[in-house]
Amino acid sequence: MAKVAVVNEAKITADLIQSWKGRRRIGALTAYDYPMARLLDEAGVPLLLVGDSLGMVVLGYSDTTLVTLTEMEHHVRATARAKPRALLAADMPINTYRTPDEAVASARRLAAAGAEAVKAEGGRSIGEQVRAIRAAGIPFCGHLGMLPQHVREEGGYHIKGRAEAERQALLADAEFLAAAGAFAVVLELVTPAVAREITQRIAIPTIGIGSGPDCDGQILVTNDLVGTFPWFTPRFVTPRLNAFEQMRRAVEDWRQALESNT
Ligand code: KIV
Repeated sequence: MAKVAVVNEAKITADLIQSWKGRRRIGALTAYDYPMARLLDEAGVPLLLVGDSLGMVVLGYSDTTLVTLTEMEHHVRATARAKPRALLAADMPINTYRTPDEAVASARRLAAAGAEAVKAEGGRSIGEQVRAIRAAGIPFCGHLGMLPQHVREEGGYHIKGRAEAERQALLADAEFLAAAGAFAVVLELVTPAVAREITQRIAIPTIGIGSGPDCDGQILVTNDLVGTFPWFTPRFVTPRLNAFEQMRRAVEDWRQALESNT
């Protein structure tokens, strides 16, 4: 049967993504600007995240702990101008959700910039903040496992869930987030067995990154997938393109052709 292009498909909402639990795998990627949001949307990716990973792959910081709310707003605005059909979520950067009031004020700023959902790191430890964000009517995505905003205290990006206490804490946090009204939860660097257990246990989708194949969905930093940040590629990513090298060659060819004509 010939493929028919589907036009004017309905906008993807947090509720819709939540309803895909057990029915459809969810592919999610990061976007930090207008052209990438358009590209990912045209490729049919249903969930775009303006991640605070932009601190490393766009702004040249060493980790996400230097990213500010103002920087996030700037990139959310640029990404939202693409008016994607995909749900557009944004990370709440470090120190912007220390209390429920601060969390709601920060989430509102991101929503005003164009985010349709927000994500923050933690489970029961930010329980009141999650409840306050949901009470303000803003869709919320959880983030458990390795929490990049804690990388300095933890001295690196370590796999979570190996110890029994960690496994139990992850399960309890995931159950808490589902009960508190999160529409999905990102599981970062969680052992595949524990990620599978959480996925089977909770009623909202799990979206894994470096957490094995059995989550309801997968998320990647787009730059890792297409090779535009070649200085570091996480072990769990197989790049599909070497875009940095291809662009470098294109620019070099252009420069050489120009110089050879002088
Ligand atoms: O900051 C980010 O991009 C993220 C994802 C990769 C999960 O949190």
